Amino acid sequence: MSKNTLTITDNRTGKTYELPITDDTIRTADLRQIKVADDDFGMMGYDPAFLNTASCRSAITLIDGDKGILRYRGYPIEQLAEKSSYLECAYLLLHGELPTEAQLKSWVDLITTHTFVHENVKSFIQGFRYDAHPMGVFLSTIGALSTFYPEAKKVHDKQVRMLNVVRLIAKVPTIAAMSYRHSMGFPFVYPDNELSFAGNFLAMIRKMAEPRYKPNKVLERALDVLFILHADHEQNCSTSTMRAAGSSLVDPYSAVAAASAALYGPLHGGANEAVLRMLTEIGSIHNVPTFVKEVKEGKGEKKLMGFGHRVYKNYDPRAKVIKRLAEEVFEVTGRNPLLDIAIELERIALQDDYFIKRKLYPNVDFYSGLIYQAMGFPTDFFTVLFAIPRTSGWLAQWCEMLDDSEQKIARPRQVYTGSAKRDLPESRHNPFELERSR
Ligand code: COA
Repeated sequence: MSKNTLTITDNRTGKTYELPITDDTIRTADLRQIKVADDDFGMMGYDPAFLNTASCRSAITLIDGDKGILRYRGYPIEQLAEKSSYLECAYLLLHGELPTEAQLKSWVDLITTHTFVHENVKSFIQGFRYDAHPMGVFLSTIGALSTFYPEAKKVHDKQVRMLNVVRLIAKVPTIAAMSYRHSMGFPFVYPDNELSFAGNFLAMIRKMAEPRYKPNKVLERALDVLFILHADHEQNCSTSTMRAAGSSLVDPYSAVAAASAALYGPLHGGANEAVLRMLTEIGSIHNVPTFVKEVKEGKGEKKLMGFGHRVYKNYDPRAKVIKRLAEEVFEVTGRNPLLDIAIELERIALQDDYFIKRKLYPNVDFYSGLIYQAMGFPTDFFTVLFAIPRTSGWLAQWCEMLDDSEQKIARPRQVYTGSAKRDLPESRHNPFELERSR
């Protein structure tokens, strides 16, 4: 009869251990009983970059990279992109179930009544240099919000927690738009609570002298769909940062600032910018075969940006939705000439053995930058556009962590590779005196 256990024999001692398996997983803490001597620390797992370590049990988002599946709370991303809204998805991620119509209405009302920020936030943002990167402004301002809501540190008080979750989801578009307007030297625009979440964001970005900004319906919906697609992606770098920072029980503003900092990095939130640079460098569909050849001959030196993914070894399901969305957006904005190069690049790469063998398919970033560019967003603003919806995913994961009795402050171990104990030399200079007498 098969048993749900793993038997390990330690060849150093000849001892055998039987570890329970749950959900195809062993607890690495169970390895600690494996020792050579009684006073040994016990065996650990070594897993740089957590390539094969589950840090939590989560019921929020499922990714099956081999099959190209992404689901929020069990609902396929393709269906959500077609039939849901970003705010409904945020509710779903946080509460686990779709809202009823009445629940959705009060959720939307609730978010809408928290879109304004304290007037002092304006002077805070105005303190940044005129050319400050909008993502640097965004993440600093989110962190600064913790000083406006000091009670947010009561993270175990569920009412306080939810109030600050709502504030964060509602205020990130306002802060994002302010970071954009500051970088452009434009006056800030107050939220228009008559508009949808995406429509209000477009208004805060675009409104100039007109008394009321009316967003284009296609662009408003396209942005909302992009927000749905980016809302959560399970334990990626920024979400793991959110959980790790949050595990110290810091307030959610500081934890979202930490997660935003992780997203800021080019390996995480910045790849769509790199795709645009690559497509511009290729310049014409006639140059695509030569470019693909150079990528293949570059043996990893030169990459096809927007292709390949650590988890997806199939077509990224978000990329499929974005490709369709791009056509709709370009009907309004005019065709982005780089789209033809992107389509040709995808066509050639997907027929090529090099990419087939390595399971390299377009990822979410392959087409998203083209849409953002066509909608008039500058490239250094793309990561901020990613952070707006990801805030709801970060917060859902943070709430799940706080309610998980197995979670503690995140504290990985290390394998120490430094010097063995050594003593400071008896006679030598006094470093502090040296510093003081300079
Ligand atoms: N273009 C060309 N070759 C690529 C490639 C790409 N975009 N991505 C991976 N490869 C190749 C690697 O050179 C490697 O080839 P080898 O086996 O001959 O050495 C093989 O495919 C496996 O790649 P590896 O780097 O081990 O995969 P990974 O899971 O560590 O990396 C990414 C995943 C996303 C970092 C990587 O695919 C990449 O850099 N893509 C481009 C950047 C990008 O679009 N990032 C956004 C991700 S959402």
